[in-house]
Amino acid sequence: MGKVIAVSGKGGVGKTILASLLIRKLVKSGKKSILAIDADPDSNLPDALGVSVERSLGDIREELISKQSEFPPDYSKTAWLEAKVLEIMAEMPSFDVIVMGKPEGPGCYCAVNHMLRSIIDSLPRSYDYIIIDTEAGLEHLSRRTTRGVDDMIVVTDLSVHGFKTAERIKNLSKELGIEFKHLYLVGNRVNPSHEKMISEKIKSTGLEFAGLIPEEKEITEYNLVGKSLLDLPESSLAVKAVDDIAKKIKLI
Ligand SMILES: Nc1ncnc2c1ncn2[C@@H]1O[C@H](COP(=O)(O)OP(=O)(O)OP(=O)(O)O)[C@@H](O)[C@H]1O
Ligand SMILES: [Mg+2]
Repeated sequence: MGKVIAVSGKGGVGKTILASLLIRKLVKSGKKSILAIDADPDSNLPDALGVSVERSLGDIREELISKQSEFPPDYSKTAWLEAKVLEIMAEMPSFDVIVMGKPEGPGCYCAVNHMLRSIIDSLPRSYDYIIIDTEAGLEHLSRRTTRGVDDMIVVTDLSVHGFKTAERIKNLSKELGIEFKHLYLVGNRVNPSHEKMISEKIKSTGLEFAGLIPEEKEITEYNLVGKSLLDLPESSLAVKAVDDIAKKIKLI
C-alpha cells in the first residue's frame, strides 16, 4: 500500500505550492510511482506541475450519468469508469496526475459516486506515493475526499484565520472519526525572524510541527509566468525548506 499524504488549510495559504514541492522532492529522489490528486474544484495543481489535464473525475461522472441509459443491461459501469479514469489521467515520466473536478451535483446517483469512490480508494494499491491537494477549508473532511489519508499536513500563513482553520481541521476530523496517522502543521511565507513570534501559536494548535517555508521571489515569478514548480532550482530556499519537511514527516 502506498503512502497517502494530503495538504489542507485556509484559502491561499500555499497548499498547492507545498503539494507541488513535495512531488518535486519525490521526483528528484528518483521515485517513479507517484500520483498527484487535485481535489480542489478550482483546480490548479496541474498548472503548478506544468501538466495539462483536460478532463476531471467530475466530467466522467456526468458522462456516465448522461449515458447510462444507453448501456446494455449487462454492461459493467465499473469497468467503464475504470477505463475512463485511466484515460483522463495525465501520465508524466515519473508521476501521474488526476483532477477530481466539481463535486457531485443534483441528479448524481449514489451508485455512480460509490463506484468512483471505490476506484479512488483502490489507487493507493497502484502507487507508492499519493499526494492530494485539497480545496480550501474543511469540506474535504465532511465530503470524505480525504478518506484513507495517512498523514494530513495543514498549511497556515501568519494570520489568525490560518491557525484557526488548522485547529478546526483537527477538531472536525476528530468529531467525524477520521484518524490520521499524523496531523502536521506547516507555516508558509514565514521568515526565520518570525519563528520566535509564532512558536507559542504553533504549540497551541496541538498539531505536530513539520516546518516553515520562507516567502520567496522565485515562487511568485514561476507562478506569474506559469512555469512548473518542479523546475525550481535546488538553491531555492522554499525547495530546501520542503525537502526538510519531507524528511521530518518521513515521506522518504
Ligand atoms: N512561500 C511563498 N513565497 C512566495 N509566494 C508564495 C509562497 N507561498 C505562496 N505564495 C503565493 O501565494 C499564492 C497562493 O499559493 P497557493 O496557490 O499554493 O495557495 P493555496 O492554498 O493552494 O490556494 P487555494 O486555497 O486558492 O487553493 C500563489 O500565487 C503564490 O504565488
Ligand atoms: Mg490551491
